[in-house]
Amino acid sequence: MNFIEAKSYADLSRKAANIISAQIILEPESVLGLATGSTPIGTYQNLVKGYQNGDLDFSRVRTINLDEYCGLSTDHEQSYRYFMNHHLFNHINIDRNNTNVPNGCAEDLQEECSRYEKLIASLGGIDLQLLGIGHNGHIAFNEPNSYFEKDTHVVKLKESTIQANARFFNTIDEVPKKAISMGIQSIMRARKILLIANGSDKKDIVMKSVYGPITPEVPASILQLHPDCTVIYSY
Ligand code: GLP
Repeated sequence: MNFIEAKSYADLSRKAANIISAQIILEPESVLGLATGSTPIGTYQNLVKGYQNGDLDFSRVRTINLDEYCGLSTDHEQSYRYFMNHHLFNHINIDRNNTNVPNGCAEDLQEECSRYEKLIASLGGIDLQLLGIGHNGHIAFNEPNSYFEKDTHVVKLKESTIQANARFFNTIDEVPKKAISMGIQSIMRARKILLIANGSDKKDIVMKSVYGPITPEVPASILQLHPDCTVIYSY
């Protein structure tokens, strides 16, 4: 694993965007695996700047997001599709048909999971996967468990995750209890991984993930086995 210590959130965001920019410049048809949560917002702002100043062209880039809440429509402000449009896609020259987020409102959620698996394969896998990390070590919505979930699946969110994400909703009761998440295998198959973590409250879990035992109880610990994983952190 490569470690980059950033001086601040702004520095972390610029450094992460620089790595993603290099990927797009060198491979204009890249498949980017994208993440939501508060941490990547600054990274996306820097990518938008890169587009605005003429350094980045997203016209041939394809994207695939990690996860989506079940039951929130795409125009719900807390859905991850809305988040991606709002923070990135609305501001760059990406073809919206080349952007993918699981459909959390699909009638048959299992079928949606299989569709998403096939989609990842049809894109030829992921060139660069951006990841945040939850306080309990979750990546995407792969929650601590007794085994690693391989493929895209429906997750029952942990109480701690519901509580952590309640800050984005009016009341905790509005936080969806389920989500669709890419599995650990699809994430680990990404050719490059970039994990970003910000804030002193993430320090313990980052340490545990990077130096502790590899266990599904700390899903991010599996990243120790990835051949090209970079961690940028700012505490
Ligand atoms: C959510 C997302 C994760 C994200 C995590 C951390 O649960 N599903 O992909 O990494 O939140 O979010 P934040 O960056 O806001 O701490």
